[in-house]
Amino acid sequence: MDDTARALQRYKELVDDWDALVDVSRRPLPLVVWQNPLRRTHVERLAVGVGLDRGATVGDLLATRGYEVEPLAWRKGAWRVRGVDKPGRTLEHYLGLMHVQEEVSLAPSEVLAAKAGEAVLDFCAAPGGKTACIAVGMRNTGTVVANDLRPQRLRPLRSNCERLGILNVVITPINGMRFPLDAGPFDRMLLDVPCSCEGNLRDSRPSTRRVRHSQVEGRGGLQATLLGRAWKLLRPGGVMVYSTCTFAPEENELVLDYALGEDAVIEPFEIAGLRHDPGVTRWAGKDLRADCANLARYWPHHNNTGGFTIARIRKVAANG
Ligand SMILES: C[S@@+](CC[C@H](N)C(=O)[O-])C[C@H]1O[C@@H](n2cnc3c(N)ncnc32)[C@H](O)[C@@H]1O
Repeated sequence: MDDTARALQRYKELVDDWDALVDVSRRPLPLVVWQNPLRRTHVERLAVGVGLDRGATVGDLLATRGYEVEPLAWRKGAWRVRGVDKPGRTLEHYLGLMHVQEEVSLAPSEVLAAKAGEAVLDFCAAPGGKTACIAVGMRNTGTVVANDLRPQRLRPLRSNCERLGILNVVITPINGMRFPLDAGPFDRMLLDVPCSCEGNLRDSRPSTRRVRHSQVEGRGGLQATLLGRAWKLLRPGGVMVYSTCTFAPEENELVLDYALGEDAVIEPFEIAGLRHDPGVTRWAGKDLRADCANLARYWPHHNNTGGFTIARIRKVAANG
């Protein structure tokens, strides 16, 4: 048994086709880019310059350079791209026309569905791919507070915002466990917490690929504390998305079961074209709150992506 199979062995009972999961986890991730809607006019300019019509997309521009592009079925304005080794060194990237991001990590901002003018808190934001998705989705209106404990990890977030023309993000380098409670309330928040990264097995960067097995059971305390603090900053009726790039119920369902009270409802959701399995309501002999079934588990072999787990949680308004 190799490292990949060993890392996934504990999920044999949870997954429909364990061999397919192990097999896909040994293969590199497809490369995905999304078009920046804030730079639409510059895409038009380049398109006309290479003889395309004004409605052309970043995908069309990349295709004229000989790259193989395939639109994502579930998200408009994003493509899988083959034949480009360093997408960060393309003109389209330098000009802020596009951003490179792992496919399934686009899902949390879809589920959050922040609207123009809202106040959003991205609690563990660096290096900031999801912050960028949220901010451009709000069309540079409202406020996105992008927080992270580690200032050095906030540097790429800052430069990505600058490159993409994002103006509605403010950056705070605060330990989430002590985040000021008078900084809100927020309409929505993303809690993309530090985790053991089991879903990153396909990532080619050695630092990211490293699964931190020892953390599967040890991270729950931090995750639950961050959730508890953030929850106090969410307005009644507001929505929190809790996400991890890991499979461990100890870092997902068990955290929500422990940290959420009666003022929280884990809501069901569906992203058309992106298959997920339901969350678990029993693990290691313990029954969990019934709405844990509404978590979405994205297994790599179902959509040929990395792995992710996402919960959409609504804070019940005072009048119910
Ligand atoms: C999974 S990563 C976030 C990825 C990010 N959402 C993105 O899309 O690029 C988790 C982040 O949590 C941060 N973190 C860890 N402990 C924290 C704490 N106590 N308060 C705030 N952030 C913390 C880490 O520095 C790390 O950047």
